[in-house]
Amino acid sequence: MQRKQLDEEKDVVDHREVAKSSWESGDMQIQAKELMKVYKNGVAAVNKNSFCVAKGEVFGLLGPNGAGKSSMFNMMTMDLQRSSGDVRILNKDLDELNVIEDGNRMGMCPQFNPIWDNMTVDQCINYIAKVKGLPSQAEIQF
Ligand SMILES: Nc1ncnc2c1ncn2[C@@H]1O[C@H](COP(=O)(O)OP(=O)(O)O)[C@@H](O)[C@H]1O
Ligand SMILES: [Mg+2]
Repeated sequence: MQRKQLDEEKDVVDHREVAKSSWESGDMQIQAKELMKVYKNGVAAVNKNSFCVAKGEVFGLLGPNGAGKSSMFNMMTMDLQRSSGDVRILNKDLDELNVIEDGNRMGMCPQFNPIWDNMTVDQCINYIAKVKGLPSQAEIQF
């Protein structure tokens, strides 16, 4: 399925070149190389996107609704299988990341707050702390 291709800003074009040239040196925290997602219905949600995030850099991935942001993130968190392309996080190929060891060095805040309506805020925090295996201390009371 054909999707409207927006005109690209110069900084976007420039960044793609930085991402391409830094792929080999690999000194980035997050790298995506020609990442692509074509859904079963033929929608090319992500079309060979390349980007990189350096240490200490705050990187914004912007785009209108339907641009493919969620598809990108879902591939990078391995919630969604990628059609082609490569991702490296903390200098490791995505498929080689150790969820326990490397996972302790990263975090993700999802688009919607994962708060359960039937629990209080302190119950949520204490529950997540237990799931994450944090040492048991006096439970937080707000
Ligand atoms: N599971 C799916 N199957 C088919 N098309 C999808 C699916 N999820 C998203 N899309 C389509 O992929 C495109 C990108 O969507 P998405 O990644 O959610 O963009 P964004 O997060 O930037 O709004 C949209 O055209 C959307 O309709
Ligand atoms: Mg989205």
